[in-house]
Amino acid sequence: MNSTQLACIILAAGKGTRMKSALPKVLHRLGHKPLLGHVISAAETLAASRIVVVVGPGMEDVAAVANPHPTVVQVTQNGTGDAVRAALPALEGFTAGTVLILFGDTPLMTAETLEKLVSAVGPAPAPAVAVLGVPVPAENAFGRMVVTGEALERIVEVKDASPAERALPIGNAGVMAIDAALLPQLLARLEPSTVTGELYLTDLVALARAAGREARLVTGEPVEATGINSRADLAAAEELFQQRLRATAMAAGVTLIAPQTVWLAADTKLGRDVIIHPNVVIGPGVEIADGVEIQAFSHLEGVTIGKGGRIGPFARLRPGAELGEDVHVGNFVEVKNATLAAGAKANHLTYIGDADIGTGTNIGAGTITCNYDGYLKHRTKIGDGVLIGSNTALVAPVSVGNRAVVGAGSVISRDVPAEAVAVARGEQKTAEGRAVRYHDEKAAAKAAAKKSS
Ligand code: UD1
Ligand code: CA
Repeated sequence: MNSTQLACIILAAGKGTRMKSALPKVLHRLGHKPLLGHVISAAETLAASRIVVVVGPGMEDVAAVANPHPTVVQVTQNGTGDAVRAALPALEGFTAGTVLILFGDTPLMTAETLEKLVSAVGPAPAPAVAVLGVPVPAENAFGRMVVTGEALERIVEVKDASPAERALPIGNAGVMAIDAALLPQLLARLEPSTVTGELYLTDLVALARAAGREARLVTGEPVEATGINSRADLAAAEELFQQRLRATAMAAGVTLIAPQTVWLAADTKLGRDVIIHPNVVIGPGVEIADGVEIQAFSHLEGVTIGKGGRIGPFARLRPGAELGEDVHVGNFVEVKNATLAAGAKANHLTYIGDADIGTGTNIGAGTITCNYDGYLKHRTKIGDGVLIGSNTALVAPVSVGNRAVVGAGSVISRDVPAEAVAVARGEQKTAEGRAVRYHDEKAAAKAAAKKSS
C-alpha cells in the first residue's frame, strides 16, 4: 500500500464514565500500554501518512500519549459523526486516498484486518466505504449491519432499531475506511438521530449509497471488536491480549511451561530458547536474551538480562537492573538500578541496589547493599572476581577492589583495595569447658522452679 494514500482518525473524546475513573478511558492499559497506544501502533503499522487523534476538552494527558501525532479537540461530544467532523481541519489537503476511522477504546484490532478494510475501498467504481462487522449475539449493543450479500446498505444503532433490525446477526465493530474525496461532503449531510440527537458516523454508509457509491461489509473475528467500556471489559481484554502475547512468544521460540500463568507486557522482548516457568510476572521495559531461564514466581520490570542467565525462583528484578551473560540471581534476591557483569552470582536472600558488580563475582547469601541513608542514595562498586561472604552489609558509598575477599558477617563501610581480605565483625572468644558450668547452673535453676510451683 502506498503510504501517501492513507490517513487515520482515532476517536478518543469520550469520557468513559462507566470506567468510574479519574483517568480518561483510553489511558487505561493493556499489557502496561495505554489503550490509545495500541490503536496508534496499529495505525503506524499501516504506514498511515497522517494520524489524527480526536480528544475532549482538557485531555492534555491523552494528547501527550498521542504525541508526535496531532490531536484535535471535539468541544461538545455529540457523537462519532461529530467527532470525525472535528478532525477534518487536521486532514486539510488530504483529498485523494483513504481515511481509516478507528476508536481509541477498541485496542485489539490487528493491522491485517485493517489492511483488508483499507484495500476494500477506492475511487469509483470501487466501494467508497468499508466497515468491519463481527457476528454478535442478540443482546449485544453494537449497531447492526443491514446487508445484501457483501453489499452494505446501512447501519442502524440499536437504540434506534426495530425489533427485526435488532435481530440482525452482524454487529458494527466500529472501524470504517472511506474514500477521502467523499468524506467532507458526506459529513456535511449528517443529520442528528431523532432518538438520541447525536450525529452518527455510521450514517455515512447510507449517505454514500445515496450519492451513488457502494459500501462493503468486511467480516472479522469478534475478539478484534472487543471494546472497553468498564473495568470488567478491561480485565477481559487484558486476558485476550495476554493470550496473544503468549502465542507470539511461543511462535518465536520461547518455552512457556504454563502459558496462562505468565504475564507479559506489550513491549516485552524475549530471545530464542528462553524458558519461563509458571507464575512469572513481567512488567514494562524487559528485554531477555537467548537461552535465559526464568524460574517460578519471579517478578521483573525495567531490566535487561544477557544470554544464558538463570533467574529465580522468587527473584525480584526492578528497574535499572542490567544483567550480563550467564548471571545467576536466585531466590529472594532483589536487584534495583544495578549492573551485574558476566558470570556474577547472587543466589540467595540478597538486596543489590545502586551497585555495580564485576565479572564472576560471588555475592554470599544475605548480603545487603545499604544504599539509602534516609536522604540520598549511594553507590556500591564491587570489582571482578570478588568473594563477598554471607550476611555482609556494604554501607554505600563504598567500593571493593578486584579479587578482594570479604569475610562473612562483615559491615563494610570503608573501601577495600584489590586483592585484600577484609573482615569487619566482633571477634570470637572461646572459653574451653565453660559450657559444663553453664549446663549445671541452668538445670538446677529449672528444677528449683518446678519444686516451688
Ligand atoms: C459505536 C457505533 C456502533 C458500534 C460501536 C462499536 C456509532 C454511531 N455507533 O457505538 O455502531 O457497534 O461503536 O463499539 O458510531 N467518541 C468521540 N466523540 C463522541 C462520541 C464518541 O470521540 O462524541 C469516541 C469514543 O471516545 C469512543 C468511540 O468514539 O472511542 C465510540 O464511541 P461510543 O460512544 O463508545 O460509541 P457506541 O455507542 O459504542
Ligand atoms: Ca463503545
